[in-house]
Amino acid sequence: MTPLLELRGVHHGYRQGGLFSRRRQPVLEEAGLTIGPGECVALLGPTGSGKSTLGRLMLGLEAPEAGRILFEGQPLRDARGRVAPATRRAIQAVFQDPFGATSPRLSAFAVVAEPLLAERLPAAELRARVAGLMLRVGLEPGLMDRLAHRLSGGQLQRLCIARALAPGPRLVLLDEAVNSLDLETQGRILALLADLRRQAGVAYLFITHDLRLVRGFADRCYVMQERRPVEVADPFGPGPQPPALAALRAAILPARPRSRGPLAHETLTTGAAPRQPIQQF
Ligand SMILES: Nc1ncnc2c1ncn2[C@@H]1O[C@H](COP(=O)(O)OP(=O)(O)O)[C@@H](O)[C@H]1O
Ligand SMILES: [Mg+2]
Repeated sequence: MTPLLELRGVHHGYRQGGLFSRRRQPVLEEAGLTIGPGECVALLGPTGSGKSTLGRLMLGLEAPEAGRILFEGQPLRDARGRVAPATRRAIQAVFQDPFGATSPRLSAFAVVAEPLLAERLPAAELRARVAGLMLRVGLEPGLMDRLAHRLSGGQLQRLCIARALAPGPRLVLLDEAVNSLDLETQGRILALLADLRRQAGVAYLFITHDLRLVRGFADRCYVMQERRPVEVADPFGPGPQPPALAALRAAILPARPRSRGPLAHETLTTGAAPRQPIQQF
C-alpha cells in the first residue's frame, strides 16, 4: 500500500552566524520516515533534535537540501517548489502555542472559517459548518463571536484543532500540540484527538519531547537519533533502546529511591519539566 507520506534520504540544515556566513549546521541527515493512511505515528526526541524542522518539510514550508518527500506517492512540491492546493488542504498542522498560532484580532468564527473561505459558501452555510466543527472539538458554538484570544488556552487549542480539521485533511501534524496545556486539559485533548481519528480516519504525526504523551496513543514511534528518525518497536519495553530514547525515559522514570520515602510524591515530581499551564479551562 502506498504510504500517505514518506521521507526518503532527506538532508537539511541551517546557515549559522549571519547572512554571509558559510557555516552550516546540519539538522537532518539521511532522514527517512513513513506514515500510512489513518496511522498515528509519534516522533520523539529532545529539544533541538530537528523534529519541527522535519514537520516544516512535511508541510512543504521548506524544501529539503536533498532527498525526497512524497505525498501519496507523488512529490510533495512541484519543480517550482509549490505544493498543490489539494495537498495543502490534505496536510494540516497544530502547534504548541495556540495564542501564537492565531491572530488576536480574529473572532473564533474567523479562525475556523479561514481555511473554508476558498469554497465561497453562502454566509449561513459557512456559519453552520464552523458551528459543526466547534461541536466536534467540544466547543460551544455560542463562543463563535468571541475574540479567539479571549478563550482559555485549552479552548483555543481546540479551536486550532477545529481549524485544522476544517478542510478535511488526510494528515494532521501535531507539533508539541498539548505540551503547553495543564495536565487535565492535555488528557482531554488527547482523548478528543483519539476520537477524531476514529471518526474521520485521519493520520497523525505526533511530535513531542515528552514520552509520557505517546503511551496508548501512537501506533508506531520514531526517536530522533543522530539527526534522523529511528523506529523503535516499543518505547516502554525492556531491551536495548537508542540512547536518545533512554534519555527521554530517564527524564520521566524516577531513579531508584535511595531511601524508603514518600514514593508517590517522588514519582510525581522526579525529572518532569515544570508545567506552565497557559490558562485553566
Ligand atoms: N529557521 C531556523 N534557522 C536556523 N536554525 C534553525 C531554524 N530552525 C531550527 N533551527 C535549528 O535547528 C535545530 C533543530 O531545531 P528544531 O527542528 O526546531 O528542533 P526540535 O523541534 O526537535 O526542538 C536547532 O539547533 C535549531 O536551533
Ligand atoms: Mg520543535
